[in-house]
Amino acid sequence: MPSAAIRLDPAFRVGPLDRRLFGTFVEHMGRCVYTGIYEPEHPTADEDGFRTDVLELVRELGPTVVRYPGGNFVSGYRWEDGVGPVEERPRRLDLAWRSIETNEVGFNEFMAWARKAELEPIMAVNLGTRGVQEACELLEYANLPAGTSFSDQRVAHGEKQPHDVRMWCLGNEMDGPWQVGHKTASEYGRVAAETARAMRMVDPTVELIACGSSNSAMPTFAAWEAVILEHTYHMVDHISMHAYYEEVSGDLPTFLASGVDMDRFIEAVVATADHVGARLRNPKKLGISFDEWNVWYEKGRFVGAGNLEIEQAPRLIEDVFNVADAVVVGDLLITLLRHADRVAIACQAQLVNVIAPIRTEPGGPAWRQTIFHPFAHTSRLAHGQVLRPVLDSPTYSTSKFGEVPVLDATATWDEGTGSLSVFAVNRSSADPLDVVVTLTSFGALEVAEAMELSDGDPYAANTEQEPERVQPRPLAVMLEDGVLRFTLPPVAWSAVSLTQVRAQT
Ligand code: AHR
Repeated sequence: MPSAAIRLDPAFRVGPLDRRLFGTFVEHMGRCVYTGIYEPEHPTADEDGFRTDVLELVRELGPTVVRYPGGNFVSGYRWEDGVGPVEERPRRLDLAWRSIETNEVGFNEFMAWARKAELEPIMAVNLGTRGVQEACELLEYANLPAGTSFSDQRVAHGEKQPHDVRMWCLGNEMDGPWQVGHKTASEYGRVAAETARAMRMVDPTVELIACGSSNSAMPTFAAWEAVILEHTYHMVDHISMHAYYEEVSGDLPTFLASGVDMDRFIEAVVATADHVGARLRNPKKLGISFDEWNVWYEKGRFVGAGNLEIEQAPRLIEDVFNVADAVVVGDLLITLLRHADRVAIACQAQLVNVIAPIRTEPGGPAWRQTIFHPFAHTSRLAHGQVLRPVLDSPTYSTSKFGEVPVLDATATWDEGTGSLSVFAVNRSSADPLDVVVTLTSFGALEVAEAMELSDGDPYAANTEQEPERVQPRPLAVMLEDGVLRFTLPPVAWSAVSLTQVRAQT
């Protein structure tokens, strides 16, 4: 049986884990908001109309931050439509998804939901059809205590305390021709820099995210980053990245290696940002806000969806995820953790129904998709420092990325609690993999829990009828003399958590 080795040492570190890496995304798209998080007629709805069955699953999933309200939606959004008396709010045509937006849920309702879900918000401002003025007005409404026109409006709308939103995206995917108000790099760079400058005049403490490319296949990729950062470098804290993966034409080996693509993409954006920083003689290092990532299949039918009927809360891209998708999601989390020295924020897109870990039916149940599990357990178990493992793995060939390692793995180490967590995937669709992890530098350890997610059928999925078909199972591990051993089946994600045995005082 093929075998791979992992060597870990508490001294070999990538850096501290920013827990904002376990972010999520709620867009006014399809059924993410309406009949997703919000459904006043649902039997589990609370006094504000939020589904408590969904809230419970969100808490179990364990995201830390939530990006809102888009996505492509934000590029045509008027935030004022969503505040004030609900019965006076307009029904608008949302151009991004050719949907009716009722505005029943707006900024204050969303903030109430985020509080219940214990999530810190990341707001996006509209730099498609709007600009500096409206972004500043929303920030004033959100963050100023009172005594100015927009902050007083918030108070009049029943929100006495400022929302104190720290993180703000300067638009969304502005390089994409599908974006309402799409811009060239220099057009966007100018408006983003001016918006950032003005927003800091309203609230100097905000953290700002400039729009990077929509994906690495964009013809303008890297040139876009270079140009927009020339304008914005000194004004922003992060640059955004987006990436979605899918199995194309039954090429499972390439799909399972999606993390290799994400690795290369992150390294390219970091290199480009650092180049601009060097050129500008600016010692600051930008963070990466990987604020949209996931597996996504159905996009062809909906991006630039001019051919669709105009509907309210339509069923858009409600992908059903399988075991292989969950393994890829687990590996993408490993990839993000590996880059924890630069990835400050990451948001899996999206949270409910729309390419989401949580699915719902109107008036019906809510359930966990396969991709729910690696996210929930990685978020729960990863703490402290991300370690830099030395990996020794056999390779396999892929049509897109050449030879790639069969094993991918990372680990986190929390010195305070003495907890070590190891995350590993077997990307092989053919063979099981023996994994040997050397942990001798940690002193005495004991295994706290060990799990794996795999299935005889890599295309097995969870559905409304069979919501628990795929879930993690206990993984048999052996720990002897500081060496941990386990065997992963083909197409498997795993997590093992260990605790340092400390002398009682
Ligand atoms: O997450 C779905 C869509 O994907 C978002 O609206 C957009 O930003 C991206 O293209």
